[in-house]
Amino acid sequence: MYTFLFIFLLFFNPVSPSSPDRYFKSLPSTLHRRHTFQEYLELTHPEPSDLLIPSCTLPVLHHSFGNTVNSPPFTVPYSPPSDCPSPWSRVVLDFHASCRGDQYDRIAALWLGGAEVLRTSTAEPTQTGIFWKVRKDITRYSSLLARSNLELTMMLENVVNEVFTGVYHINVTFFYYDDNTVRVPFSPLDDHKLDTKLGSEPTGGANMLQGLWNSYGKPADVIIPISDDRDKGFWFRIEGKSDVHSKIIRIPCNTRRAILELYVSFHGDDEFWYSNPPDSYIKSNHLPTSRGGGAYREVYVTIDEEFVASVVPFPVIFTGGINPLFWEPVVAIGAFNLPSYEFDLSPFLGNLVDGKNHNFSIGVADSIPFWLVDANLHIWLDHRKSKVKAKSIVIYPTPALSGETPFEVQRPRRVVQDRGK
Ligand SMILES: *[C@@H]1O[C@H](CO)[C@@H](O)[C@H](O)[C@H]1NC(C)=O
Ligand SMILES: *[C@@H]1O[C@H](CO)[C@@H](O)[C@H](O)[C@H]1NC(C)=O
Repeated sequence: MYTFLFIFLLFFNPVSPSSPDRYFKSLPSTLHRRHTFQEYLELTHPEPSDLLIPSCTLPVLHHSFGNTVNSPPFTVPYSPPSDCPSPWSRVVLDFHASCRGDQYDRIAALWLGGAEVLRTSTAEPTQTGIFWKVRKDITRYSSLLARSNLELTMMLENVVNEVFTGVYHINVTFFYYDDNTVRVPFSPLDDHKLDTKLGSEPTGGANMLQGLWNSYGKPADVIIPISDDRDKGFWFRIEGKSDVHSKIIRIPCNTRRAILELYVSFHGDDEFWYSNPPDSYIKSNHLPTSRGGGAYREVYVTIDEEFVASVVPFPVIFTGGINPLFWEPVVAIGAFNLPSYEFDLSPFLGNLVDGKNHNFSIGVADSIPFWLVDANLHIWLDHRKSKVKAKSIVIYPTPALSGETPFEVQRPRRVVQDRGK
């Protein structure tokens, strides 16, 4: 009860509408015992590649994000290492960040050729400084990683002024592993019975959540981003339930398998969407909050205006969320490596391998401002043919929705018919 009240007060505390709720850490810096940078971390599974020495190490991005609000994202050219040609057995993204001063948690993402490879959020720094590392298996993006002259882009909108002094220093390095990769000798992790066989399927990333969702297996032949132009980062900014963002794409006629990978994060009045009361409740209790819309959200995908998939995302809590003291030095699950969600769209290939343009759209049912979403379409080709035949399978109709909620969930109609091709 105490916790509930505490959370309630925290969420509905009237603050000036222009500044989001924020609690300053009360411990004066003189009381911090540390004089060196402290490491922050997210609990993760060990990755098989943790025990391997990469064949090549490529520093790809080194940048300090100071006052970057309203600036375009930071972009560097990318080409794979010449001494380590593809195919690789694994590729790992290594992300290092450090910050000192006072700062909000910030959302950030990395895109390779417009396809998102990492969604991450920052820790709130201290006066003595903090740092953290993220390791993510990015083998699934091999078809992009093998290409030369791509752009690697990072967006991290930060504000630096007299009050908020924290500048985020970021280094990103890619590690490439091949079949001759050697194990780290005498690793302290040796006792763990980890599967380090190089031929085994890569897992979805070090994140605890990602392993549950991974179904890629062998990396896709082609990756098509379903994302925005890059002026403000490649993500689509969704401002409400009627705000749908689309990309018109054409997929190869010899596609035999397609998985859509969705990246998503929630912000502003929807940062804590899973605890938002219904609007009717806010109204009848005269609550001074704009965080309404009820506590249910669904990120959905449509193709040619027909519903194909949706997910209720995992409620990742950023380091400024609920009570910042909960998240130092161990941050919430997913905060440094947000999960992405996979939808197998192969059953819809019957409508897609016709060589024509198709409209892929993303929206968030019942959302209020704002959400950042984009997706990657992973495509596996039949190399023996230039064109394959596909047929839509019968999708069993979902029973009519019954039950009562104080609010209405609005989403596109589910497609249930056999298109009989
Ligand atoms: C990034 O790399 C540079 C050069 O190697 C190093 O001086 C700096 O400390 C690194 N920063 C982080 C945050 O790892
Ligand atoms: C794509 O679909 C969305 C809705 O699903 C629609 O709002 C948009 O107008 C469509 N775009 C085109 C170019 O047809």
